[in-house]
Amino acid sequence: MESNTDKKKVIFSGIQPSGQLTLGNYLGAIKNWVALQDEFDCYFCVVDLHAITVKQEPKDLRQRTLEVLAIYIAAGIVPEKNTLFIQSHVPAHSECAWLLTCNSYMGELSRMTQYKDKSQRYGDSIGAGLFTYPVLMAADILLYNTDLVPVGQDQKQHLEIARDIANRFNNTYSPTFKIPDPYIPKVGAKVMSLQDPTKKMSKSDDNPNGYILIMDPPEVIRKKVSRAVTDSLGIINYSDDQPGVKNLLDLLIAINGSTPQDLVAYYKDKGYADLKKDVADAIVNELEPIQNKVNEILKDKKALEEIYKLGAEKANYISMKTLRKMQKKIGFIPRG
Ligand code: TRP
Repeated sequence: MESNTDKKKVIFSGIQPSGQLTLGNYLGAIKNWVALQDEFDCYFCVVDLHAITVKQEPKDLRQRTLEVLAIYIAAGIVPEKNTLFIQSHVPAHSECAWLLTCNSYMGELSRMTQYKDKSQRYGDSIGAGLFTYPVLMAADILLYNTDLVPVGQDQKQHLEIARDIANRFNNTYSPTFKIPDPYIPKVGAKVMSLQDPTKKMSKSDDNPNGYILIMDPPEVIRKKVSRAVTDSLGIINYSDDQPGVKNLLDLLIAINGSTPQDLVAYYKDKGYADLKKDVADAIVNELEPIQNKVNEILKDKKALEEIYKLGAEKANYISMKTLRKMQKKIGFIPRG
């Protein structure tokens, strides 16, 4: 295999196919990944094993898994340059997760904020998979000797526990895992809800006007942006006192690379309607070509299959090497 002969640092990241992806997934993650592919050895995964920690309709899961992969590619992630794969195609993830589960503590897993939030909501009927979720994520990362993990604020704690688990395994047995660091992109966008700009844009928002889906048709995008919450000040400043306006400006910054200063100067004598129109145009211009490509990619299922098969082969080769090392150190008999 040609991989890993070069000394590029390894990046691993993944998105769950558990709902339709939002503009937040795109501007906060995927768009940044595109910029990483030349400098790093990147693994971009569709984490379907994570998605089933909550109930999924099989038909929807199938469709969304392929759609997420098609979005990666349509956004500009080149399959030949990176390892694009579907998590469940690489059995080492599940197996590594079990080995790591046996090196994890109830206490540290109970302290995860995401788990605590969810267990408050679901009580005793919370799925056990949501509890061990961070261990599976640690397995994803550690199997590939990952140097850097691009993560948003909400996943920082999960990366921390991955580091703890890795260090513990290294200390219990012998140095096995590289300790991954978070990768904070130079221009990271945190996209907030259009209806409550103090909250992150999320596909699980009850109000669909709060989020824009990557695959939303242009007229839907325009409608949602026109309904975005602003304020009654009527001036356009880039300030935390105006979270709605700031979020709209941030969208322009993330999409067009403009600066807050330039935008504030430009909108000095303009109103919210002008700003919203420009934001809607920018989003539509950015997403429409991607949507067209996604639809094209999804039409040719054979070609897409070639891509994820190749990705799984590459991922399998690397991850099996790590898994074998773990098994040996733990004391399992090699199959021979
Ligand atoms: N937990 C991540 C999220 O919900 C998804 C994920 C799974 C991930 N495995 C990963 C992200 C490994 C980075 C690296 O966003």
